[in-house]
Amino acid sequence: MSGTSLDGVDAVVIEFKDDQCQVLHTASLAYPDSIRSELLALHIASHNELERSALIANQLSALYADCIQQLLSNATLSAAKIKAIGCHGQTIRHRPELGFTLQIFNPALLAELTGIDVVTDFRSRDIAAGGQGAPLVPAFHHAFFGSPNRNRVVINIGGIANLTSISAIGHVIGFDSGPGNMLMDAWAEKHLGERYDHDGKWASSGQVIVPLLVRLLAHPYFKQTPPKSTGRDLFSLAWLLDYLTPDWAAADVQRTLLELSAQTISMALKDFCKGFDEIYVCGGGALNTELVKRLQQLQSPTRIRLSDTLGINVLWVEAAAFAWLAKQGISRQAANLPAVTGAKGARILGAIYAS
Ligand SMILES: Nc1ncnc2c1ncn2[C@@H]1O[C@H](COP(=O)(O)OP(=O)(O)O)[C@@H](O)[C@H]1O
Ligand SMILES: [Mg+2]
Repeated sequence: MSGTSLDGVDAVVIEFKDDQCQVLHTASLAYPDSIRSELLALHIASHNELERSALIANQLSALYADCIQQLLSNATLSAAKIKAIGCHGQTIRHRPELGFTLQIFNPALLAELTGIDVVTDFRSRDIAAGGQGAPLVPAFHHAFFGSPNRNRVVINIGGIANLTSISAIGHVIGFDSGPGNMLMDAWAEKHLGERYDHDGKWASSGQVIVPLLVRLLAHPYFKQTPPKSTGRDLFSLAWLLDYLTPDWAAADVQRTLLELSAQTISMALKDFCKGFDEIYVCGGGALNTELVKRLQQLQSPTRIRLSDTLGINVLWVEAAAFAWLAKQGISRQAANLPAVTGAKGARILGAIYAS
């Protein structure tokens, strides 16, 4: 899995048995700066982008293959023991309203380099059926994180945050609430030269700038009723820069961005996910202690727990979800939730590149 944060690639070996799943081994590789900056550049229309995306797709596939090699070697597993790789690719455009979403990498090359079947392109079929193609992880949350007697909410805080509400009777609501880590990461990179604000410490040194927060919260996406999904197309550094004035201190802007993520997640819970008993967080943002602390204040008295207590460490939930999506694809079982994505019906997702 490589998500909108553009932090790198996460890989898991996962075993599915009797309706249970178990993460057996994990590995991750950070994107080198060169790959990350080219991917970021390809998010907007630019010179010679067809050739540049084909070239970066090859580089990405080599990096994915390295990550898988590391994973297998840590696990002392041979490629023959792996049924398939589910690989999301890197989103560079997400425009369901125009009928497309674009995740790049070269699946044929990944199959060639690893000798393992690759399942990919999970989102297009849902969009072809009129859906958002996203979020897809709610189906996985539903399959493995539901409870017969508790109404649960799972908040995945990646670059974008997405919410899944799973009622005890199995009714599921899921959608992207808006920015998760992405804007905070971009601002930290610009001012600290670091890829993210470790534990939200820099944000905690600042104060919320209320006029800025009010302007950012006015984005119509936050009030839009689900199904909805978003990405860097809407919430980018360029979007933020439009609202800034030079006299605001950088740490205060960072604190405001943290507040934006916490408040929009909380608004989304209140507006669209009523009646839950338990909240779980996952994704890299679950390690941003200041963000989780702020979310906890907003959600009190409901206690916020990590997905670890449901059996999967926060860092590996999304990678596990794409392994499951691959399993669904190769066993020709539908994997989208039409109530979440807005698709006309259940669809089998993914394309297979045989090894
Ligand atoms: N210790 C930490 N403190 C603050 N933020 C963190 C920490 N660890 C990870 N993160 C955040 O998590 C992000 C990666 O999360 P991830 O779930 O991989 O998102 P995505 O799916 O969008 O790639 C990083 O970019 C960073 O913002
Ligand atoms: Mg990531």
